[in-house]
Amino acid sequence: MTLSTTPLRHFLDLKDFPYQTLRTILKLSADLKKRLAEGERPELLKDKVLAMIFERESTRTRVSFDVGMRQLGGQTIMLSGKEMQLSREETIADTARVMSRYVDAIIIRILSHDDLLELAGAASVPVINGLTQLSHPCQVMADILTYEEHRGPISEAKITWVGDANNVLASWIHATAIFGNTLNIAVPDAYGPSQGMLADIEKAGNKINLTDDPKAASEGADLIIADTWVSMGDKDADDRLRTLEPYRVDQDLMDLSAKGSLFMHCLPAHRGDEVSAQVMDGPKSVVFDEAENRLHVQKAILAWVFGIESLS
Ligand code: CP
Ligand code: NVA
Repeated sequence: MTLSTTPLRHFLDLKDFPYQTLRTILKLSADLKKRLAEGERPELLKDKVLAMIFERESTRTRVSFDVGMRQLGGQTIMLSGKEMQLSREETIADTARVMSRYVDAIIIRILSHDDLLELAGAASVPVINGLTQLSHPCQVMADILTYEEHRGPISEAKITWVGDANNVLASWIHATAIFGNTLNIAVPDAYGPSQGMLADIEKAGNKINLTDDPKAASEGADLIIADTWVSMGDKDADDRLRTLEPYRVDQDLMDLSAKGSLFMHCLPAHRGDEVSAQVMDGPKSVVFDEAENRLHVQKAILAWVFGIESLS
């Protein structure tokens, strides 16, 4: 049983952190990536056990946390929400209290952000947000690492989001307030930001511009980002596909962006919907570097929640 007396290091949302903490995690990600390329797997979390609760589908988050924990010398237990007593109405808080007596940390993918917060509030081990309907902080950390590897400081980047106002965008809004990049958001009114997102946009000041015009938003962009038009939990797929049709990232849109611009997508992608195959598989696309970086960032986040901030 691990009952910590020091404050717990959860990783729930980027907006919870000062710039320096996120920089520490990004540096650790890059260092772990370099070490892995050199054939080294520092066992920073030897014999620690990570519980992985997935209420919803996942390929990247699930595999990168699982492999990342093993590369750090730890172990994982994969739990699908459906197989747990959670699906038979055991409370999230009781689940958190019990799991905290067995494992050293928990990562959870769960649609309800309130449930994530309830789990973290009741847990006595670190909790990591593996995506909720409101945010996807691990993804955006990997996106930032990827951008900086290709193009340098994110603070100087002019970034454009095209699509609907979803969880990944929410984490980009949080990141923008912290890292100081520019973020142009092109979304239709019908799928625009919630009140909560608007409040976060307000906090980022003049760094964020909101429009319904993808062309205007993409002019001179250093990075264009798309995501699926139908996120997990969205019930109105037909309407979304119709309404978001003008928000496809295609070659014409990319041609409006800066000469050295990049394209990112957290994946899974739907070629022909939110992105054309030409862009997705074209020379500006760094989507598979982005997916790979989930592994390196996940390892750094895992190390950080256990109090490790650098490699010796
Ligand atoms: N980008 C991402 O989180 O992918 P998965 O849904 O496959 O985990
Ligand atoms: N916005 C997408 C991200 C998937 C990784 C979703 O929530 O389904």
